[in-house]
Amino acid sequence: MIGPRLTAVIIVALLAGPTAVALAATQVGIVRPTSEPARPSAALGAQLYAGNCASCHGIAGAGISAARPGAGAVPGAGPPLRRVGALAVDFYLRRGYMPLSSIHDEPGDQRVLFSDKEIRSLVAYVAGLGRGPAIPHPVPDPANISDGFSLFTDHCSGCHQLVGRGGFVTGAKVPPLQSIAPTQIAEAVRIGPYLMPRFSRTQISDRQLNAIIAYVQSTSHPDNRGGWGIGNLGPIPEGLVAWWIGAPLLVLSARAVSRRRRSG
Ligand code: HEC
Ligand code: HEC
Repeated sequence: MIGPRLTAVIIVALLAGPTAVALAATQVGIVRPTSEPARPSAALGAQLYAGNCASCHGIAGAGISAARPGAGAVPGAGPPLRRVGALAVDFYLRRGYMPLSSIHDEPGDQRVLFSDKEIRSLVAYVAGLGRGPAIPHPVPDPANISDGFSLFTDHCSGCHQLVGRGGFVTGAKVPPLQSIAPTQIAEAVRIGPYLMPRFSRTQISDRQLNAIIAYVQSTSHPDNRGGWGIGNLGPIPEGLVAWWIGAPLLVLSARAVSRRRRSG
C-alpha cells in the first residue's frame, strides 16, 4: 500500500529531478570580462582564457600534468596548448568541445558557448603562445566526389560508416559528419580528436582532403536506391532494425500458424 508519506517522497523526487538538471546546466556557464572590446583581440582572448581554460590547461597554456587533490584517477587535468596552434583551438571551440565540463567526459555533444568574436580572440591568444598550425582553408570541388569516396572508404568509413552518419567504436561515439563546415572537417583530420587517429599530409595530402570533404558534403543529399532509407544509418544498425522488426514478425506468424493447426 502506498502511504501518504511515500506519495510525498515520490512527488518531491519528481520535482527535484528537473531542479538538479537546471543547476547542472548553469554550471557550464562562461566567465566573461564585464565589458568586451568591439573587435576580436588577443587581449580579450587572454582574459577569456584565464577565466575558462587555465584551470585545466594551466597558466599561458603550460598544461597541468600533475594530479591535483580531488582530481581522482585522471593523471592530467589538461594537455599543454603551446604548440597546438590556431587550428586546434578553432576546431575545439567551434565544435563546442571546449571548455570541457568534466575531464572524465568524451569531448563533443556540447553547445558552442562563445561568440564568433570570443572564439577569434581565444584563437589569437592561444596561437600566440607558440608555433603551431594555422587554420586550414580547404576548397572542396564537387568534381572530385568519386576520388573522395574511395579515399573516405580507405581512411574514414571504418568508423564513420560509408555515408558518414556515424556509429560507435569501442569507448567512443562516432559523430555524423553532415552538418560540419569544410574547415572543421579539415581540422578534425589533422588533429584526430579523442579516439580518432590524426592524418598527416603524407597520409592524406591537402588535395586529397579537399576530395574527401567534397564527398562528405555530397552525403547530405544521398541518392537513395529505393527501399526504406531508415536515415542511411549504415549496415550494422540497418541489420538491427531488420532483426527488431523481422524477429517479432517471425514469432507472431509461427504462433498464428500453430494456433490454426490446433483449432483446425
Ligand atoms: C575541465 C577541464 C578543461 C577545461 C575547462 C578546458 N579544457 Fe581543453 N582540454 C581538456 C582535456 C582533458 C583535453 C584533452 C581532450 C582529448 O584528448 O580529447 C583538452 C583538449 C583541448 C585542446 C586540444 C589539445 C590538443 O593537444 O590537440 C584544445 C585546443 C583545448 N582543449 C582548448 C581549450 C580552451 C580554449 C578552453 C577554454 C575555453 C579549454 N580547452 C577548457 C580539459 C579542459
Ligand atoms: C578509428 C575511428 C575513426 C577513424 C578512422 C576516423 N574517425 Fe573521425 N572521429 C572518430 C571519433 C571517435 C570522433 C569523435 C571525437 C570526439 O568525440 O572527440 C571523430 C570525429 C570526427 C569529426 C568531428 C565531428 C564533430 O562532430 O565535431 C570529423 C569532421 C571527422 N571525425 C572526420 C573524419 C574523416 C574525414 C576521417 C577519414 C579521413 C575520419 N574522421 C576517420 C573516429 C574516427
